[in-house]
Formats: sequence, C-alpha cells, structure tokens
Amino acid sequence: MSIQWFPGHMNAAKKKAAEQMADVDVVIEVVDARLPAASCNPLVEELRKFRQRPCLKILNKIDLADPDATAAWIRHFEQDKSVTAYAMTTKKPSDVAKVIAKARKLAPHRSDALKPLRMMIMGIPNVGKSTLMNALLKRRVAKVGDEPAVTKQQQKIYLDMETVLIDTPGLLWPKIEMPSDGMALAASHAIGANALIEDEVAIWLAEELLKRYPELLKARYKADVSAMDGVALIERVAQLRSYRLKGGEWDFEKASHMLLQDYRSGLLGRISLETPETRAAALAVHIEQERIKAEEAARKAAEKEAERMKGKRGT
Ligand code: G4P
Repeated sequence: MSIQWFPGHMNAAKKKAAEQMADVDVVIEVVDARLPAASCNPLVEELRKFRQRPCLKILNKIDLADPDATAAWIRHFEQDKSVTAYAMTTKKPSDVAKVIAKARKLAPHRSDALKPLRMMIMGIPNVGKSTLMNALLKRRVAKVGDEPAVTKQQQKIYLDMETVLIDTPGLLWPKIEMPSDGMALAASHAIGANALIEDEVAIWLAEELLKRYPELLKARYKADVSAMDGVALIERVAQLRSYRLKGGEWDFEKASHMLLQDYRSGLLGRISLETPETRAAALAVHIEQERIKAEEAARKAAEKEAERMKGKRGT
C-alpha cells in the first residue's frame, strides 16, 4: 500500500502562495533534517524560482538527525547559489536567534522601515514552522520586555520596523515522488498513517534502520540484529517489552507503535532516513522502474490494439 498526497488541498494553497510570493523578499523554507528531500514541497521551489526569490532553507530538528547526513545535505543544497542552508533546532534559542540575520544577508537591500525585509515561512506540515514562528516572536518579547511583541496587520507580522513575517500560505503537502517518501514521512509523523498501515510503516522503518543504523538498534534493543529483517526486529521490541496478546503471541501492533515512537522521540539516537547519495540512488532506481512500467503498459496497449484490428479484419 502506498501513501498518497492530497492535491485537493494544494490548489488553494498554491494560489495563495503564488500571490504572496510577489511581496516576499526571502523565502524561509523549513524541512525536516531527517528527510530533507522527502519533506520538501516542490511548489516552494517552483514559485520562488519563478519570482527569483532567494531561500533560507532550514533543516530543522537536527537534535534528531544524523550530523554527518545533515552536513552532506547542507553542501548539497548550497550548490544552488540562491540558497543558504541552515541546520538548526527550534529547541535551542541560540539557533533561532541566527535565523533573521541569515535571511537578512540574502536581501541586504531590504533593511529599513521604508523597505523592511519581508519573509515568508513555508513548508509541509509538522516540520516545525509554527514552533519557529513562535520562537521568533518570543525572542522579540524577550527583547522588548512588556511592550506588545507584534503588531498583526492583515497577514503581516512585524517583528520590528525593519522585519516582517508574511503569514504562511496554508497547507502545503509534500509531493510524494517515490513510495518510500510516503513511508519516511509517515514514520517521521509529517503525514498521518492510520492504524492499518502503521504496521506497514513500522516494518519499512525497521528495514531502513537495519540497513543504516544497526549499531543503534543493537544498543537500544539489546540484541544482535545482523540476521534480522524488519518483522523480526519488531518482534524483538515486543519480546523486550513483554507485549503479548491475550492468546500469548506477540502484540505486533503495539511493538510497531513503540518502534515508531522510539525513532520519533530520538530515543534510538540521531537518525536520518536519506542522504544526498542514497536519495540520488533511490531516484535512479525509481525512474528506471517507472520507465519499465511505461514500456510494459505501451506494449500491452499495442498488443490489445493489434488484437482489435485483427478482430475487425476477421468480421
Ligand atoms: P508545523 O507548524 O510545521 O506544522 O510544525 P509544528 O511547529 O507544529 O511542530 C511539529 C512538531 O515538531 C511539534 O511536536 C514540535 O514540538 C516539534 N518540533 C518543532 N521543532 C523541533 C525541533 O527542532 N526538534 C524536535 N525534536 N521537535 C521539534 P508535537 O506537537 O509533539 O508533534 P509530534 O512531534 O509528536 O508530531
């Protein structure tokens, strides 16, 4: 079963984002550092490139992500000269404190009350946009003491006279390029997975973790994982936590949920589900599979047409 995105919601958000982009100097795009490509919405790139707007790409939640993978992603994103990539966590006020200065550098011509720096925070759900926005506003509160921190005017929030945040354009869903993106997003809680497929997401995550971070699994679940597959790993979680159903067999559902929780909360360690290299390799395989599928479909259609013509000639 694959997880789909929701184009219905996209249309309204796309329209609003396209309108707002005209009045924006810098786009602050927030992605999840554990899956920086899968958690992008290509619409952000499309609209900002169309308007030639620079981007501060925030890889958020680095407290949960693998530092080596994050460093590789920063290098990857900064190959685009209109992008500054910044790895941070909203949990660290000193990280949040650098955001505006970094954005300002991308549009130095916007620096006074007549020409304030106008920024828009964009990104798919659950990457930390609201937390970042609140942290930016709180910082302002800390700075100005009892004064009202923000003036909310239409859709603009003034952080100070020279800095404006434009409201985010509503829900931007990820574009799921490959089925594995849906799994990675669901595992990371960026999109919901219902109970039926939660097991499937957990098995997918278990397989990825076995490939990428066997040592972390060994440490957390106190077992030699080298010969395990995803199902066996989840059974090990059930065994370790004594999760049993009434009949005595392992409670697979509960153990699946626990594995997901361990990953999401960082209890397993700092984990990334993709690097630029693994992403490129997975995309190449996906494109090849799609090409084979398209060829197969074309061949079947041609055969069907030939049959139809034969039938026509026979009558
Ligand atoms: P959104 O506006 O983009 O939809 O995201 P939001 O700020 O609501 O944040 C989504 C979740 O991510 C929140 O947790 C929030 O606390 C968490 N979060 C934001 N920034 C960071 C970060 O730097 N590190 C970590 N570890 N978490 C961060 P939540 O409400 O508990 O949701 P969930 O994580 O259980 O899904």
